[in-house]
Amino acid sequence: MGKESVQRKIDNLLDLPGLPATVFEAIQILRDPDASIEQLSQSIELDQSMTSKILRLVNSSFYGVSGKIGNVPQALVLLGFNTVRNTILSMSGFEVFLRGEKAKAGGFDLNGFWKHAVGTGIIAKVLAQSLRLPEPEDFFIAGLLHDIGKVVILRLFQSEFMEILRLVEQEGLYILEAEKEILGFDHGYAGSCLAKKWNMPKKLKEAIALHHIPGSAEDDMKMPAVVHLADSLCRGLGVGHGGDILVPEIVPEALEILELEIDSIAGCLPEIDAEIEQAADFMTLFSV
Ligand SMILES: [Fe+2]
Ligand SMILES: [Fe+2]
Repeated sequence: MGKESVQRKIDNLLDLPGLPATVFEAIQILRDPDASIEQLSQSIELDQSMTSKILRLVNSSFYGVSGKIGNVPQALVLLGFNTVRNTILSMSGFEVFLRGEKAKAGGFDLNGFWKHAVGTGIIAKVLAQSLRLPEPEDFFIAGLLHDIGKVVILRLFQSEFMEILRLVEQEGLYILEAEKEILGFDHGYAGSCLAKKWNMPKKLKEAIALHHIPGSAEDDMKMPAVVHLADSLCRGLGVGHGGDILVPEIVPEALEILELEIDSIAGCLPEIDAEIEQAADFMTLFSV
């Protein structure tokens, strides 16, 4: 592939859709330390579809407050601004890119893909908790969004995406290799362009960009390393479908960064199973 054509595709990536206006406003207010619960709730409630998804999500047993939250102010009080903001950001990511994509997705299993995202998020959170890393909810969001670049590629480069899937299926390539061959970049890069455009926190952007090469992170290698492990475990456990036929191998640097032995992960498996079972509601949130 010529350099010029790669550059043209990257230019397309820089032209990604922005956050919907209502979501953008809610995120801005959520960043303001002086904002009141009332101001925030009003800005979120302007977007009906967002509001109903947030309420469904926060009432799923995942957050441990099942069925108790009836409105947005309660969600803000019980879960905190940070969790609500991250929830809105990740919901929007999938909402913007999955809407209307069903007919165009060809052989790509969007439901399986969403399950892979949720499963990776849950496993990342359980691993972060067992490693006693701060803010385990942030690891959930990083896992949820780690492969968002695949949806970006599906949306912007449809025919190339179909060719990538063909290489994966017929030639047994990892999706990452097929993407590089066909596009000249991979879904980590495509996802990081979206993260940049949507002003996601740097830590989250790096986790998305570097979940296959966690040792390259400048800021904090732990988040990409946890997401890397979670991605592989999720595929290994058969939860959802990430577009790969091969289960991505765990790179040794991920274990080194976390000072972890592969065998010690086995101790987390019962909790991972239980959390995934509890997240059944969440798994169908974006049934397409
Ligand atoms: Fe990936
Ligand atoms: Fe993945």
